[in-house]
Amino acid sequence: MADRYLSFTGTAPGRFLTRRLGLPQPTALHRWSAEHPSFTGELLHLGAGKSPLDGPDGLAAVLARTGLAVRARSERPVAVVLDATGVTDIDTLAEVHAALHPVVRSVARSGRVIVLGAPLATADHHQAAVQQALEGFVRSLGKEIGRGITVTLLRLTDANAAESTLRFLLSPKSAYVSGQVIGIGGAEVTAPADWALPLAGRTALVTGAARGIGEAVAATLARDGARVVCLDVPGAAVELESVAGRLGGTALALDITAPDAGARILAALPSDGLDVLVHNAGITRDRRLVNMAAERWSPVLDVNLASVLRTTDALLSAGGLRTGGRIVATASIAGLAGNAGQTNYAASKAGVAGLVRALAPTAAPEHGVTVNAVAPGFIETKMTAAVPLFIREAGRRMNSLGQGGLPVDVAETTAWLAHPASGGVNGQVVRVCGQSLLGA
Ligand SMILES: NC(=O)c1ccc[n+]([C@@H]2O[C@H](COP(=O)([O-])OP(=O)(O)OC[C@H]3O[C@@H](n4cnc5c(N)ncnc54)[C@H](O)[C@@H]3O)[C@@H](O)[C@H]2O)c1
Repeated sequence: MADRYLSFTGTAPGRFLTRRLGLPQPTALHRWSAEHPSFTGELLHLGAGKSPLDGPDGLAAVLARTGLAVRARSERPVAVVLDATGVTDIDTLAEVHAALHPVVRSVARSGRVIVLGAPLATADHHQAAVQQALEGFVRSLGKEIGRGITVTLLRLTDANAAESTLRFLLSPKSAYVSGQVIGIGGAEVTAPADWALPLAGRTALVTGAARGIGEAVAATLARDGARVVCLDVPGAAVELESVAGRLGGTALALDITAPDAGARILAALPSDGLDVLVHNAGITRDRRLVNMAAERWSPVLDVNLASVLRTTDALLSAGGLRTGGRIVATASIAGLAGNAGQTNYAASKAGVAGLVRALAPTAAPEHGVTVNAVAPGFIETKMTAAVPLFIREAGRRMNSLGQGGLPVDVAETTAWLAHPASGGVNGQVVRVCGQSLLGA
């Protein structure tokens, strides 16, 4: 279901009318396309405090590799990176204000503000306080900055381990990710031979790939060079074959809740195993708890959580995921914030976040695999087209970007988590929600 309001406000009469009526004017976001794969323009690199990321092979070198023109001053930056890893007290926190106050107005439409912070785990409670303060700062700036600009806080200790993340955030691929706090560990990372084809030679399996977000995920991973195995229910076999055929991948018609699903996936994989496992299949059966029969509870928990647990266990225990593998599960902001009428769905999606946080610290050392989740907000798909009109319109607008996301926004975030150089990103639940007010 197209967002007609966004199209209308993109026209001159639409802009005029909505401004006169004081209605929201969402900005059409700059997303990735083959013609415009990256931003062009200047990246304003600012600092606050004495940064531990300085040095010849540090942050400046990584930013220079993004392709943007890095400057210490800029009239119209497409992106601002403020290094606040050296913020340790109230005075250095004031430097964050001093650095950004004069420049926020000049950031280009659909641009980026990225604040870099230090990990919170410090014995110094002054430093912990001002580093935590950055979260309130970033989330507030995301809500007020407007013009389709996103604002993100990255916590890191090693700029090189964060290169895939910085490249993602400093590109049109992250158009709908805002108001997030993302932690990057100091993992050893190897740059891909070709940043444009990071998944070349790798195999990815996407569940629920016949349509919607799953189809976009499969297409995006294929764009990045992966061989894709597209899985969906036998009832969707025709659509599934068509998606897999278009992407040069293979179709696996299988109900993911089948008790032998793990074994059947293993049998369908190439002999060298799998590199990327995307748990995307999901269903809703909404009712308030008072009206929710067990027939509405069980299938939702089975598809969205139990099958994710079962297939993850089956693949990990059989060595089905190769070293350097990536598991990306699909949560939802409804699972993080709660949503009336969705006790079943939110329980399943909160469970996904629990699985990710618990498995990530052991899967990395034991299997060389990272485990993360995407948590979509309101995404324009058949699932949300079925939502009643007024709730749908509220879902679309109640976020900092004033619009719904597209399946490709979740797909791009998944591709970043699946990236071979994203080994430092582990145990994260990243919302793709335009900074939705739900559970913000
Ligand atoms: N659309 C949104 O706004 C939104 C928001 C938050 C989270 N999500 C999550 O994103 C994921 C994809 O959502 P979507 O909007 O593309 O949904 P969709 O309904 O358009 O697609 C889901 C796909 O999963 C498949 N599927 C369902 N049960 C399956 C099973 N047992 N085995 C194999 N495949 C199965 C369906 O056949 C379908 O092709 C889901 O996990 C959903 O909960 C979506």
